[in-house]
Order: sequence, then C-alpha cells, then structure tokens
Amino acid sequence: MLSEAVQRCRGCDLYRNATQAVFGDLEAGSAVRHPRVDLMLIGEQPGDSEDREGHPFVGPAGKLLDKCLEEAGIDRRRVYVTNAVKHFKWEPRGKRRIHKKPSLREMHACRPWLDAELETVGPKVIVCLGATAAQALLGSGFKVTQAHGKVQRVAGSPPVVATWHPSAILRAPTDEERHSQMRALVEDLRAAAKTAGTAGKVSRRKSGLK
Ligand code: URA
Repeated sequence: MLSEAVQRCRGCDLYRNATQAVFGDLEAGSAVRHPRVDLMLIGEQPGDSEDREGHPFVGPAGKLLDKCLEEAGIDRRRVYVTNAVKHFKWEPRGKRRIHKKPSLREMHACRPWLDAELETVGPKVIVCLGATAAQALLGSGFKVTQAHGKVQRVAGSPPVVATWHPSAILRAPTDEERHSQMRALVEDLRAAAKTAGTAGKVSRRKSGLK
C-alpha cells in the first residue's frame, strides 16, 4: 500500500525530524477503500498536528478548510485531501516546532508520491491550496494572487484550480483581509466543484487509499 510504503521513503532528509509521513485520505480516520473522487485538494506539507496525528489538514488550517468546504457545499469525506510534501519540515523555537517551507529539492523528491496518489485517486479536478502546491503543478511562475479560481488546463493532467492556503488566511493581518480571502477560497472551491460537474455537491462515491 502506498500509505505504508511512503513511511520508508528516504528521498530527502525530512523523514529524520518528522514523526511520520502523512499521506492523503478522505477524512481523518477514514477506512473507506477503492478511490475515485471528483476533487483532490493539495496543500503544502503536514503541520505540527498533522505530523502527530498522521492525517492531512486536521489542525487549525484544517478546521478553516472544513468550514470553507462546508460553505461551498462540499462534503470533505468525499474529497481526497493531501499535501505536495509528505513530511513535516520544522525548526525549533523554544518548545514549539515552527513550520519551515520545503525546498524545491524536497518538493521534487516527494513528487513521485503525489503522482502515485493522482494516478490512484484519478480526480476530475485538482485544487491547489497555496503557492507551494500550485507551483509544483503549474510551474514556478504561477501566482495564486493573480490567477486563483481560474481553471488551468495542463497537458496530461486533470484541470487545476489554485486558491488561497488556509494557513495564509489564518495569518491575514486584518479581519477584512481574512474574510475576503475566505470568501475567495469558498468561491474557488465552488468553481472547482462546478468544473468537476458536481456544482458544489461532490458525488457520494466511496474512496480512500488505505
Ligand atoms: N498545511 C498544509 O499545507 N497541510 C496540512 O496538512 C496542514 C497544514
């Protein structure tokens, strides 16, 4: 199984300081098998909570994502959520583990796992949450601020929609900016669901990689 094989990955050094590799799943603890989903959401890398719990987007950014998915009429249990990089990269600050952006080399080293997920899950539409995932799939010149919500056609890939990363929204300097970015994330998720032909109602197919 991919989710077991990834635990033995030594493609870069990030495994040394991480608790575990975090692979995608439909929802935390989902045991549903045989994937085929409409939307695949790709974030950057697991955070502190994800590293401990072994599931993507279960910490504060995940809670915000859940809220936006709900508002967009999308059932999180019916989308496949994962990250471009599977190990948590961090640096110590006092007792805390502070997120560090993965390097290009680390992103490239992890790419075969993302490709394996894409091939197994076979999503109709990919949603990139934030610049790291967007640049991994759409090239280093891609700017989420300028092109979020627009459907990108990529040869040999399902259509891609890039949008704000929930962590960026949590860090927004003002309430006004936070609300505006949240509204944009919800709209972009709706656009992705519409492109997948589900118009905000992701179909009730069973999926999961475990
Ligand atoms: N941020 C991400 O990009 N992914 C997670 O799983 C959690 C936070």
